[in-house]
Formats: sequence, structure tokens, C-alpha cells
Amino acid sequence: MPIEVTSPSALYSEHVNPQWVKLLDVLGMNVSYTRCSGSELFTEDGTCILDFLSGYCVHNVGHNHPSVVAALKEELGRSGPAMLQSHVPEAAGELAARLCKLAGGRLSKVFFASSGSEGIESAIKFARAHTGRTGLLYAEGAFHGLTCGALSLMGNPFWREGFGPMLPGAEQIRFGDAQSLEAKLSTRQFAAFIVEPVQAEGGIRIPQREYLQTAQQLCRKYGTLFVLDEVQTGMFRTGKFLAAHHYDLNPDIVILAKALSGGLIPIGAVLMSDAVYKSVYSSLKRAIVHTSTYSENGLAMRAGLATLEVLERERLGKRAIERGNELRRRLRETLSGYEMVRDIRGIGLLSGIEFQAPSKISLRVAFDAFQRIHSGLFGQMVVMRMFRDEKILTQICGNNFMVLKAAPPLIVEETQIDQFVVAMGRVVELIHSSSTFWSDALGLARRALNI
Ligand SMILES: Cc1ncc(COP(=O)(O)O)c(C=O)c1O
Repeated sequence: MPIEVTSPSALYSEHVNPQWVKLLDVLGMNVSYTRCSGSELFTEDGTCILDFLSGYCVHNVGHNHPSVVAALKEELGRSGPAMLQSHVPEAAGELAARLCKLAGGRLSKVFFASSGSEGIESAIKFARAHTGRTGLLYAEGAFHGLTCGALSLMGNPFWREGFGPMLPGAEQIRFGDAQSLEAKLSTRQFAAFIVEPVQAEGGIRIPQREYLQTAQQLCRKYGTLFVLDEVQTGMFRTGKFLAAHHYDLNPDIVILAKALSGGLIPIGAVLMSDAVYKSVYSSLKRAIVHTSTYSENGLAMRAGLATLEVLERERLGKRAIERGNELRRRLRETLSGYEMVRDIRGIGLLSGIEFQAPSKISLRVAFDAFQRIHSGLFGQMVVMRMFRDEKILTQICGNNFMVLKAAPPLIVEETQIDQFVVAMGRVVELIHSSSTFWSDALGLARRALNI
């Protein structure tokens, strides 16, 4: 019997997540996309929206890259063994070899997963098995995923509330603070220090080179594994294959996901040293002691191989550096002098525009009213304006609501960088000069929250 559809999002609202639909409706962002290509998203009514979010750093090669789509069609067309769980998936070997070569250092083995969170969960298990310790250290501001183990490595109560207890032995330290790291590590209770080399959701926080190098040295000194979460920063997002390469790091474990399969198939990969790998798969008896059904499936592996080829062939790392530098230079030029713009920072094509509370009294009153309603309201209103007025998709950082993230696909064109900068300039001007920005937003928030 056919299911009666009353509106395009009605079934989703009824059976998946009504609150999400409501939120998108309130923000005027609930549009129906019919085609996505490169950096452009086309809606039902023919509007073209420029993507400066990339699905949180998933679409590094652009939406539906023809080479990745062709590789997937070919894989489907050959009716091969997608997942037998009782054979050697050759494409997984091929993809692992290419990942290890690109990553370098001590990373020579790969465990494949189906998401970033599953990669983090696996890294926790591997680190515990290798060190025989249970403690886990993570940095304040981190985002590692929302499964229980990964969530235990995130201090923000917003994500944790109602889901405890968290993993015992997980402890938070300040990001960028080598002294407190050493104080913890010296207890020799920690299996791993798990850290994003550049915190993405934390607000595009780029640490000092010395911090990460010291952190690695300290981990080695005290027998703790140095684990880098490159779920957002990997796959040339910051210009190099890994952000670790900017800092000359040699981690014990690296977690990749998101952009690895061209944004088309779920994937995750945990790269590690031989020694770590052997601690888990130590004998014939333990050959499948840690596995996951979809982890080495043919489509994900083919998508991964095709994506790597595109990233290298189109030299998207070099492009990320050049376009990223240009983007930030132009943003600084356009936005300097506005009192609510505190900083513009980034690396490669991972950039953040940080806002701050205004001091001018008229702006301050409105801003404080926003803060009283919700600390994310101001940022969300900027996102809404960018979307509705400027037809550009952006988001604020998940753990730092005052930072607007700009992370377009790495294939972004110069003209699209221009379009973003001009749009940002108009929205920032509106924030500072027009009461409409504030009054519209307050009205909308009150209606949505019934206050
Ligand atoms: C740095 C980082 N690590 C891990 C994750 C979790 O990845 P997933 O959502 O694929 O589970 C995310 C997701 O945004 C992330 O940004």
C-alpha cells in the first residue's frame, strides 16, 4: 500500500526527527535539494546555493565528483563480493597501502570503520590493548563523535547530558597546555592522549607547533600513545594530507573518516603502527577480535581509492593552501574595523570567523538579549542570513558558537571565494548598522521558543 505523503518532510518529521525539521523551518533553511555538484547545491525552484560547509568537511572533492561516481558505478556493475566476511577484500589492502604511504612515519597498518566515531572507539580499544592501561586523556573543546566512548572524550555538557556514565578513566586537560599534559601523563595511567591537531568544532583552534611536538615527546616519555583525530583535518583539508604534516609529527594512531570516500559512502580508517596493531591481532586465535560488518565493504574501498586519486590528480592540497590564504586575506580586508569581528584564522580551507560581544551600547543591549535566549542564537542568525539573503550554506562551530566556520569543498573556484567574501561583508555590515538584523531575529527566536 503506498504511503500518503502530505509534505516533503512529513514522513521524516513523523518517523525520524521532528525537532530537526522544526529547527530548519524556523531558520528558513528547510529547502529541498534536487542536485548537488562541485560546490553548488540546486533546490527545487532552481536556486543555486553555494556550499561553504562541505557537510562538516566531507565533500573535499566536491559533491558527486564524476570520478568517484564512476568508480562506484563500476564496482556495482561488476557484481563482485561486496562483503562476504570470509574472504580477503583486495581493495581494502590497496586503499590501506595508499593511506599508509601518504601518511608516512610509523603508520603502516589500517583498521577500516564506517564512521569517525567508530574510528575513535577502535583507537580507544587499540590503545588500551597496546599499553595495558585504561586512562584516556583528551583536550577541552574537543569533538570526537557521539558514541559513548567518543563522547567520553568530549567535555561539553551539551553533548553529554543524560547519556552518562561516561567511560571511567577519561580526563580532560586544557588544549595547548603542555604542563598539565605532563602532570597527567607522569602518573603513567593513560593509554592514549587523543587530540585534534587543529580543533575544528572547538572554533578552528590552531595550536603552536611546539605544543604538539612537546605533546608527542611527552607521550613517548611516559608510554602513552599519541593519537591524532584527523576526521575533519585529514584528506588535504588543511593543505597537506594530514594536518600532522604541518607540524612534522609522527603519531602512533591517526583516525580518518568523512572526506575519505568522497562524501558518498560511510567510511572510517584507523591508521596505526605495526606494534599497536600486533597488540590486538596477536595470534591466529585473535584474527577477528575487533571487526565491523561494513568496514571493508567494496563500495567504501573503491570510493576511497577514487577519492585519493582525485585529491592527488587535481592537486587539491596545493589548491587548499592557495585558496585558503586568499580567502582569509580577503576576509581580513573586508571585515577589519567591524567591532564584533574578533579574529579570522585558519589553515588550508578550514577557516573561522570569530565574533565577539560588541561594546557599543545599542548593539550590546541586543546582543545580551540574544545571549539570554541561547548562546548559539547570534551565530545561528548569521548562518540564517548567509543562507536566506546570500544563498550560502555555512555553520557555526559545534563547541564554539561565536565562530562561523568556512570550509568549502577544496575544488572551490576563485569567483566563489569572492562571492563568499562579498556576502560576508554585507551580513557583517547589516549586523553593525541595521536594527533589522536584531529585531527580526529576536522575534523569530521568541516565536520558535514560545517566549
Ligand atoms: C574531529 C571529529 N572527530 C570525530 C567525529 C565523528 O565522526 P562521525 O560523525 O563520522 O562519527 C567528528 C564529526 O564531526 C569530528 O569532527
